[in-house]
Amino acid sequence: MRHLLFNCLASAIGLIALNTACTADNEEDRFPPNENGDTTCYEGSIDFEAHIQPILNAQCLVCHSPSQGLGGVIIESEEDLAAYARSGVLEEVLFELPPSSPRKMPPGTELSRCDQETFRDWINAVNEE
Ligand code: HEC
Repeated sequence: MRHLLFNCLASAIGLIALNTACTADNEEDRFPPNENGDTTCYEGSIDFEAHIQPILNAQCLVCHSPSQGLGGVIIESEEDLAAYARSGVLEEVLFELPPSSPRKMPPGTELSRCDQETFRDWINAVNEE
């Protein structure tokens, strides 16, 4: 009996923890699995205006708009960002540097899984052109 109670409590606590982990990041809601069970981050083929611009607006332009230009970096157009994608710098600052590096982007925070996947797909597309 004791065991049963303990197990129930443990699984209830486990469920609460699991649930908190899930709701802390509601990408499941934004990107529900499609009919094949895939969790995709965007519709159709990768597109700068539709898929990258919203991430820039939310995560990058507070520092890299023309009026800010932190680190001397202004991201005003697709071409501005594509130049960093072609040189390999974008991949480096987003994915390769440790969080402790001052060049790690965005500084002090992690992009969501979908934002990372979307950036990766766009960088690959730019480099395949
Ligand atoms: C809080 C402000 C801030 C945010 C938000 C931010 N950056 Fe930066 N970014 C900087 C600063 C400051 C530098 C210069 C870092 C250095 O050289 O030490 C920089 C540098 C860069 C560089 C040039 C790196 C190099 O060494 O040549 C790129 C590319 C870049 N950021 C892209 C991005 C992208 C893409 C995002 C959004 C995902 C982003 N940044 C978000 C502040 C920011």
